[in-house]
Amino acid sequence: MNSDLFTRAETAAAFVWSQTTLRPQVGLVLGSGLGSFADDLTEAVRIPYSDIPTFPRSTAVGHAGQLVIGKSGDVPVAVMQGRVHLYEGYSAAEVAFPTRVLGRAGIRALVLTNAAGGINVEYGQGALVLLRDQINLQGQNPLTGANDERFGPRFPDMSYTYTKRYREIALEAAKQLSIPLREGVYAAVAGPSYETPAEIRFLRTIGADLVGMSTVLEATAARHMGMNVMAISCVTNMAAGIIDQPLVHEEVLEAGRRVMGQFIALLRAVLPRIAVELPQAG
Ligand code: HPA
Repeated sequence: MNSDLFTRAETAAAFVWSQTTLRPQVGLVLGSGLGSFADDLTEAVRIPYSDIPTFPRSTAVGHAGQLVIGKSGDVPVAVMQGRVHLYEGYSAAEVAFPTRVLGRAGIRALVLTNAAGGINVEYGQGALVLLRDQINLQGQNPLTGANDERFGPRFPDMSYTYTKRYREIALEAAKQLSIPLREGVYAAVAGPSYETPAEIRFLRTIGADLVGMSTVLEATAARHMGMNVMAISCVTNMAAGIIDQPLVHEEVLEAGRRVMGQFIALLRAVLPRIAVELPQAG
């Protein structure tokens, strides 16, 4: 890779801008089985990741691999239908690269979604959980290496990874829509094997309510760039050992599809409310 990350992000962002006149400030990343939110956007332009200069391509089943720029109601949004993961062989910096591009393209508020295993026994399959905080157990960080101050500071604060005001907005919207929405702490592991029951006992002990293989690197890069972040997990399965049943990826995708209606309704209600509470451009 010859050109530096910042120049790459600028080039990719310029390409995205060349494809549409919309200039969204709100971005979304749709996780496994949660991609169909992007199908209902109006004025939509769909850009395959393979068309965007130097963009990594997602190989995971259940991830479409395109950036959709369109409108959710009146709100212009940039929606990543599918993401890349460490387990596909990408470095942490590459996993976070699309987040960098969104940031350089003008996104100030990022909504991350994912499929996760439920560790907290109060959750059931299909529960929607708003992230309150995260534990990065992936063993990597997208900010490793020389820091580029054009993105952000060397040692970004992570005390408020998930914007408190956005959490309040999401909880209020869920209440109004009578959609059950819990809050929890998300632990990210590298995967791709699911956890062992012993690992899940460990994760519960250290304070995790959910486990998954994504989100934390994107949230870290987004905070580095001064974006506000919100994240919602869909509990597609209870984590290993919580119920005596093996985990199957197809079931994870299917569980996501079952709560899709609620999930989409919640996003539709939340987006206009966070769009009016954006941070200053970095
Ligand atoms: N573990 C890790 N990642 C996941 C799970 C899980 O149980 N379910 C969906 N993504």
